[in-house]
Amino acid sequence: MPLTAYDLTGRTAIVTGAASGIGRATAVLLAEAGATVHCADLDGEGARATAAAIADAGGSARPHHLDVTRRDQIAAAVDAARRHTGRLDVMANIAGIMHTSTVLETADADLDRVWNTNFKGVLYGCQEAARAMIAAGTGGSIVTMASGAIDTGAPGLLCYGAAKAAVVQLTRTLAGEVGRHGIRVNAIAPGWVRTAMTDRHTAEARRQAEEPMSRRSPLGRVGEPEDIAHAVLHLASDASSFTTGQILRPNGGVAMPW
Ligand SMILES: NC(=O)c1ccc[n+]([C@@H]2O[C@H](COP(=O)([O-])OP(=O)(O)OC[C@H]3O[C@@H](n4cnc5c(N)ncnc54)[C@H](O)[C@@H]3O)[C@@H](O)[C@H]2O)c1
Repeated sequence: MPLTAYDLTGRTAIVTGAASGIGRATAVLLAEAGATVHCADLDGEGARATAAAIADAGGSARPHHLDVTRRDQIAAAVDAARRHTGRLDVMANIAGIMHTSTVLETADADLDRVWNTNFKGVLYGCQEAARAMIAAGTGGSIVTMASGAIDTGAPGLLCYGAAKAAVVQLTRTLAGEVGRHGIRVNAIAPGWVRTAMTDRHTAEARRQAEEPMSRRSPLGRVGEPEDIAHAVLHLASDASSFTTGQILRPNGGVAMPW
């Protein structure tokens, strides 16, 4: 397969969480690969900034101020993307939040907040995108964002890890259901990545948090948003046309499950 398999010229992508971190890096990279990118985020100003940066670099992008926990808002963004270019090829469900509390300290409200954003937000994105892709009959690629938390029982990460494990199950189930429509569905489970989510404000706190993760990695480092964006590009593009229902783990080798 020629390198043009990574070319997204003429394709339309929606990226949630596009205001920051992995989502922003993904939006920028998909636009560099030629896609028209709809940059969606609860942080409307951040979404506009990402779309403006893409346009300044000569790419094509539109911002959407939305909350992934609101199905109607995701449906509206999918509809707007389709009306803009007449198609939807890629849905990258990247928006997410972090929460830490032990099992014994976890309150219903914590669980609901994390579940609503990190699972239901992804479910709505998958449902609305798959419906649009099926109706168009053009196939497509749906990417979900899980986490290395699915491979460990890390203390404090019950809400986050459970929602991410559910995202993996959603990914596999949907892949089995929509493959016959030419739609591929894959998850990414990153290791520690330097973003606002993992920011530790002071250099010393950052070093203390990152050092053990770096030591566990055969590559001796933590990830950058661009490391994960390239994984999304692979799954979004025709380069991965025989890949569906899989979990890709850009984690520096910190975990190596079968
Ligand atoms: N940073 C890491 O180490 C890491 C590791 C594994 C997985 N992840 C996952 O990657 C994804 C991106 O995380 P990040 O590290 O770039 O974090 P980040 O905080 O930099 O970005 C998350 C973005 O999601 C947006 N968002 C949050 N709730 C939203 C909502 N309800 N509707 C719309 N947008 C919303 C935020 O405004 C923000 O722009 C998340 O799903 C996260 O769980 C991150």
